[in-house]
This record gives sequence, structure tokens and C-alpha cells, in this order.
Amino acid sequence: MAESVYPVPAQWSRTALVDDARYQEMYARSVSDPDAFWREEAQRLDWIRPFSVVKQTSFHEEDFGISWFTDGTLNLAANCLDRHLAERGDQVAILWEPDSPSNPERRITYRQLHEDVCRFANLLKARGVRKGERVTIYLPMVPEAAVAMLACARIGAIHSIVFAGFSPDALANRIQDCDSRIVLTADAGLRGGKKVPLKANVDEALEHCPGVDSVIVLAHTGTPVPMVEDRDVDWASAVAQQDAECPVQEMNAEDPLFILYTSGSTGKPKGVLHTTGGYSVWASMTHEYVFDYRPGQIYWCAADIGWVTGHSYAVYGPLMNGATTVMFEGVPNFPDPSRFWQIVDKFGVEIFYGAPTALRALMREGNDWVQKTSRKSLRLLGSVGEPINPEAWAWYHEVVGEGRCPIVDTWWQTETGGVMISPLPGATALKPGSATRPMFGVQPRLLDNDGHEIEGAGDGCLVIVDSWPGQMRTVWGDHERFFQTYFSTFKGSYFTGDGCRRDEDGYYWITGRIDDVINVSGHRMGTAEIESALVAHQKVAEAAVVGMPHEIKGQGIYAFVTCNSEVEPDEALRKELIAWVRHEIGPIATPDVIQFAPGLPKTRSGKIMRRILRKIGENDVSNLGDTSTLADPSVVDNLLANRPQPV
Ligand code: PRX
Repeated sequence: MAESVYPVPAQWSRTALVDDARYQEMYARSVSDPDAFWREEAQRLDWIRPFSVVKQTSFHEEDFGISWFTDGTLNLAANCLDRHLAERGDQVAILWEPDSPSNPERRITYRQLHEDVCRFANLLKARGVRKGERVTIYLPMVPEAAVAMLACARIGAIHSIVFAGFSPDALANRIQDCDSRIVLTADAGLRGGKKVPLKANVDEALEHCPGVDSVIVLAHTGTPVPMVEDRDVDWASAVAQQDAECPVQEMNAEDPLFILYTSGSTGKPKGVLHTTGGYSVWASMTHEYVFDYRPGQIYWCAADIGWVTGHSYAVYGPLMNGATTVMFEGVPNFPDPSRFWQIVDKFGVEIFYGAPTALRALMREGNDWVQKTSRKSLRLLGSVGEPINPEAWAWYHEVVGEGRCPIVDTWWQTETGGVMISPLPGATALKPGSATRPMFGVQPRLLDNDGHEIEGAGDGCLVIVDSWPGQMRTVWGDHERFFQTYFSTFKGSYFTGDGCRRDEDGYYWITGRIDDVINVSGHRMGTAEIESALVAHQKVAEAAVVGMPHEIKGQGIYAFVTCNSEVEPDEALRKELIAWVRHEIGPIATPDVIQFAPGLPKTRSGKIMRRILRKIGENDVSNLGDTSTLADPSVVDNLLANRPQPV
């Protein structure tokens, strides 16, 4: 069957910031003369001291290093707030919609946000926070989360946001890893009418974090929470005592901006570190071009601030560009599956950016929920976080967008800071399921397993051969791990961990992770993390986790578990282990299938043959490949004979 191609609508190529000719011209310039290109693009920011050097980067071991705009200084909060005050002080910056539609929305202007940020920044200073210090943020999707981020940026503190769905253990690990002394949280969060006990989680986490001496607690739901004397303070009353002006800290372009933990194939989650200048240029530029953004348009990125998408496209990118950014606390199907589209109508959202997993879940509920809303304001749709299957793409395009809104399928990663491969709505003809063409300055290549480049159309490992400003700079506390993880597999290239196909038109099609990372509902998880949670249970001897196809989540979690010899595995234990993983990591890591197995397929040297387990997880067992190197081939027969039904 011929691939469907959706040409750029004439209206878009006429009016967009970038049409195809301009894309070609800008892309060519961005790779042939990066210094000149980025010198110009960086002018979108207000610099305190202009930079003279643009790019000093090498992916090679001998002279490895990544630094952009090195001698320039700036402040990101000033770029998000102060510089807009004269022109758009009274424009709404954050349009907040609560979990329940019966509660009122909040409209926070740039002027108000500036004041809130200044007061909170002063509070942080009063609690002893200094430039370079780490501040852990564990908050629901409320405007105060953005206030906290911007306040850190204003005074040069490094924020580390921990997704509010993570467990106390996961929170404790992240607090310890970056050695944070202060935690910002709320009494509770609300999701789909249910309370998430954030403060209680913090209290539990802090039993293992003796270094934390300050907790600022937002009374969001009115849930009574115990306050620890001298440690815990009430957000609102503490902020009220602070001054409404706070000078910005002058930051070097390469001063750290934030840490965000993300999963890899091995070990514990890594603290991905982004710095100030390059990240800001990248988030602002990609937000403007990918969404064809003009100041004042109503824009909604539905990602949580606990993920990188929330950082770059719910807060920093849009605010740098003078946007009205919608922030939604709740979930797509509460109180009913019209919720997203009702919010679109309520606020007149023009640009909507969401994840395929939510679309698939909504698609299953039927078209009526969508069609009873107007959605006339929508002009552009975006997708992020995982491959979007053609059915979901078609539904998004035809039903949600009524055929008139281009879809920008944006491929990128926590590590990349912002969008790397994506259509530009006025420039790129769309093919459902393809992230299409590289962003300016991004030089993707496909390599075979031996590192040989695949030219033209083909399939391989996706690498990027030169630096871009938004690239992460290090793994917090472990620079060697940064190099080893990303630059040692293929010498001289940044390895993304993704597989990818390039077609005859030069379009990129991400095929998914080729390492031991799985993508569950757009949330990235290391199989090793879930395995170590499982083996931490006293009845478990060994565990291996693989991804499995899942209709809604994209990938589900399939765990093979070997129990200690005296344990008789049963349904009760299965439930116990599921609850255990949820408690250890958080609900997003809930296993979909647990298969008890007396043994796992291992080579004679004791290495688990994950390839076989992956095939079983994918239910593709007709050809398991070569099993002759297994120490005990009968293990596989047992696994095949005892495959359970999904829970
Ligand atoms: O496998 C790719 C997938 O998500 C991974 C990055 O996850 P994370 O760091 O959590 O960032 C998610 C939000 C940017 C990638 O390695 N991924 C992300 N976007 C896409 C995607 N896969 C296919 N198509 C996409 N548009």
C-alpha cells in the first residue's frame, strides 16, 4: 500500500514562519556554518554580557567537551518574565485548569507571575539557597510548580523536579543523588478526583535523607498534613512575608540550570544536566519554529512538568516566547473523555501538544466524546514521547483536528533538551508515523551494529554527529558515565538508544529503543530498575523484565520472576509483587504481566538471553532463534508452556 502523504496546506506555507524553501536554506546554513547560524539565533535571548565564542564541542575521547556561548551571561527567568513586562505585562502567561471542572481556573498574567517568582525566589534565599545549590521539586501540575522553577532559575539554583507520581523511595534516591537540602511540595495532588499524598510521601522519603533541612509545603487541597517544626514551612504565609522584587543572578551560559533524572539501560536513573545558555536558545527556537508560535497565541502542552516535555514546552519555551501557556492538573478522562476538548473550547486553544498514549486511550472511548465539542480554535496538533501508530495519527488528524490541523510528530529525548526531528507545519509534508526531518543544526546518521554508516534509505541505530545547543552536558556527579553512555558505543557520535529507518525522501521513522529501555505510556523506564525493585522483595530470587506490545500504553511491562526455592508462587504473590513495584518505583512501573518461572534462559556463562524473553513478551515465539548456547534449553519450553494472561 502506498504511504499516505499530507502536503503542507497552502494557507500554512503562505503564512508560516518557515516554508519549505526557508527550511532548506536555514538547515543548510545551520550545518555548513554553525557559528554564524547560532550567533544569529541566540539573539532571540536577552544576554547580560554578549558571548564572543559560539561553539566549542567535540564528541571524541581525546578532546571531549560540549560548551556553547561560553563567555556569555544571561538569566533564564529574566528571559521568561522581565523582558515581557513592558509589552505584555497584562497578558495571561499561565492559564491553569484544575483537576475538577467544578473548581475555578486561574489566570496569571506575566506581571503577576513575575511578582510570584520574585517573592518565591526571595523565600528560597531566606531559606539559605544559593547559586548552584540543588532544589528538589515534588509538586502537582499547579502554577506554583512553574513559579518554583523560575524562582530557581532567577537565583541560579539548580532545580531537580521529581514527577509527583514517583514513590517515596524513588524521590529519596533522587534527593540523595543530587544532595539536595530543600524540597518543595504540596499537601496533596489531585488526579482524576483522587488525592496523591505528596507531603506524606516526602515525609517517608526524608527518613532516608538526613541532609534535608527545609521543606516548603503548598496547601493545595486543604488536606491536613503534619508539619515538622523548624523543617517545614507553609508556602503561602512564608511567601507573603517576602519582597516582590528580586534581582536576577547573572548566570554564565554554561552554569547548570536543571537536573532531570531519566532511565537508561543500566544502573539507577541518571541526573541529566542542562545548562543555561544553550538550553534556553534551543527550547525557545524549537518552540517557535515547530509550533509556528506567535506571541499571545493560546498554547497547550499537556505534559507534566515532571518530564522534560513539561520543562521545555509547558514552561520555559512558551514563556520565553511570550505565550499564554495552558497548564492542566488533571487527566484526559476525568470526569469524562471529553475533558481535553472541553478545555480546548473553554480557553480557545490554538495549538495542542500531547502524547500518543492519551490519544489511544481517548480513541477507544469513541468519537462522540470529541465530536460533542467544537475545537474550532485548534490550528495545530503535536505528538511526543513515543512512536505514534498510523491509526492514532489518523484519528488525531481526522477526528480531533477535523482534517485541518497539521500534526507535528516531534522526536527528542530528555538528553536533547528539545525537539530534534520534527515536521515544521509550514514546511514539511507529513507522513503518519514519521518524525520527518531534522531540526536546524541536527545531523542524524544511521549506523549498522558495527558502526558503519548507512547511506540513503535504510534502517539502523540513530546517532547524531555534531552537538546542538540544547544537548545535556553531563550526568550529575558522574561525567565518565556521561561519556560512556552516549559516546563510547559509536566513536565520535552521540548514540540516542533508538532504532530508526530513513526512507527515500530522507524522512526519519523512529522504530523504538534498541537498548534495555522501555517506553510505557510515553514514560521511559529502564528494565534494570524494575528488575532491581523485584529482586528487593524477600521472596524473589531473580527477575528479568522486557517490553511487550500494549494497545494503549505503547509498551507494557512483562516480568519473568524466579522465586526463592521455598516459595510456592500463586495469585496472591503476583498481586503482592505488583503492589511492591508500585510502592518501590510508582504506579507508572506497574507490571502488566508477571510470569513465574523456575528458571530463566541463560548462556553457559550465566548471562540471561534477553532476546528470547523479548520474543516471548512480544508473543512472537514461532522463531526464537538460536537457543543452542543455552545452558538448559528446557527452561524455554517451560516458559512457553506457562505464559500467563495479562493482569
Ligand atoms: O524512544 C524515543 C521516544 O522516547 C525516548 C525519549 O524519552 P524521554 O527522554 O522520556 O523523552 C520523552 C519526551 C521527549 C526516545 O529515545 N520518543 C520520544 N519522542 C518520540 C519517540 N519515539 C518515537 N517518536 C517520537 N516522536
